Amino acid sequence: MQTILEPSAVQRLCESFRSGGKTIGFVPTMGFLHEGHLSLMRTARAESAVLVVSIFVNPTQFGQGEDFDSYPRDLRGDLIQIERVGGDLVFTPSVGVMYPEGFCSFVEVTELTDVLCGASRPGHFRGVATVVTKLFNLIRPHRAYFGQKDYQQSVVIRRLVADLNFDLKVVVLPTIREPDGLAMSSRNARLTPEQRRAALVLYRSLRHSEERVREGERNAKAICDEMRGMIEAEPLARIDYVALCDPETLKPIDWIEGCTLAALAVRFGSTRLIDNILISLP
Ligand code: PAJ
Repeated sequence: MQTILEPSAVQRLCESFRSGGKTIGFVPTMGFLHEGHLSLMRTARAESAVLVVSIFVNPTQFGQGEDFDSYPRDLRGDLIQIERVGGDLVFTPSVGVMYPEGFCSFVEVTELTDVLCGASRPGHFRGVATVVTKLFNLIRPHRAYFGQKDYQQSVVIRRLVADLNFDLKVVVLPTIREPDGLAMSSRNARLTPEQRRAALVLYRSLRHSEERVREGERNAKAICDEMRGMIEAEPLARIDYVALCDPETLKPIDWIEGCTLAALAVRFGSTRLIDNILISLP
């Protein structure tokens, strides 16, 4: 396994894989890897000749006062885990080489980014779309793997790939959870034991929404109100948003008529967690 810090070197090497007829599977990450990341890598490994992983805590997707500086990092531990799943190449650039002095080009996906996390984190998806575009241009993967955990991100990336004619397939894989249901996240490491227990309300409220649809409830506001009630009953939780939306447009819905995305973002102290499920009609 090779670790490369220089964009030009990664570009040259990936170009040689491609021209040698090898398919490239790519998993972009911000590191502090867990089973969620590793599940993407295992699938990418099985489906590609070459597995490329990037580890880059991307400053442009963090807002003022967000947790860029305190985002958990463990490069050495990450490299061991990537080696174990059979990674071929790890790209770990510095902020300085990704955003050198004078950098001023950004990629913006509109509309899909006005809602949910885009509404509470202005500029976040502009940073994501920009860094993912740069990574796609450097690595030119045949397939790129993303998790459903960041559902809106996956929709934004699909749109970006279609709109800007990237020649690659976006693969979105299911959310990996802890045995008690909490979605795995690098940020879980920052929860106190009390917050960690309280955070179980996220998946519980998502499951509740699914249960209500199964029972025949179709009024989205009524279901959202019940979810809010459950979360608000947890004193350590502060709701950012709770929404039922169209899984393609991400627009909020009033009435459940087909497959529906239930999504939420909730703070526990300074840690903001997100989760979602797709609810299909019985
Ligand atoms: P990061 O949060 O490190 O996540 C990297 C990838 O792992 C994303 O596609 C995310 O959806 C996926 N992932 C995270 N937790 C998961 C879980 N519990 N189950 C399944 N997949 C999970 O998302 C980012 O980094 C960044 O925004 C990035 C795309 C790298 C751009 O900077």
